[in-house]
Amino acid sequence: MDLKSKIRVIENFPKEGISFKDITTLIKDKDAFKKAVDLVVEDLKEKEVDYIVGPEARGFLFGAAVAYALEVGFIPVRKPGKLPGKTSSHEYELEYGTNTLEIHTDAIEKGKKVAIVDDLLATGGTMLSAAKLIESLGGEVVAMEFLIELESLGGRDKLGKYYINSLVQYE
Ligand code: PRP
Repeated sequence: MDLKSKIRVIENFPKEGISFKDITTLIKDKDAFKKAVDLVVEDLKEKEVDYIVGPEARGFLFGAAVAYALEVGFIPVRKPGKLPGKTSSHEYELEYGTNTLEIHTDAIEKGKKVAIVDDLLATGGTMLSAAKLIESLGGEVVAMEFLIELESLGGRDKLGKYYINSLVQYE
């Protein structure tokens, strides 16, 4: 099965000039969804992962499924003000303005091995921020897994020191 053929591309969303990769068509297809999750699980098998971290919101869709299949726990990284307990925050630069992500401060014990799973690698800002949060709590980021990689945006370079795997690539 060709996973790329299950992703719907919508031009000029959310704004003019953006070619949006819509994963709703992939996750609606039970075989494609299962294959995507299974491929990530297979890639993580030897990495002795303790936790999967998934960034809000689309990272929850894949991250939680991967965690279930891998039989490890899932930890959400969320946009500000959503997590009820004590949080650690990391702010990062966007092209215009900044974004902030949060994690529960007690979510990861020191030395635990963590894989981060998200639907899409674009500039890499979200992933780098999630990695910094995990490391600030004493966790070790052993892998970054993406369904889609947009190669021309240079995310892989920004995340240079980490192990990265993507299932479907676009220029
Ligand atoms: C998208 C996507 C990734 C991030 C990738 O999330 O799901 O998390 O952008 O971009 P980057 O590599 O440039 O950081 P978005 O912020 O749109 O949030 P959503 O999943 O809640 O729609």
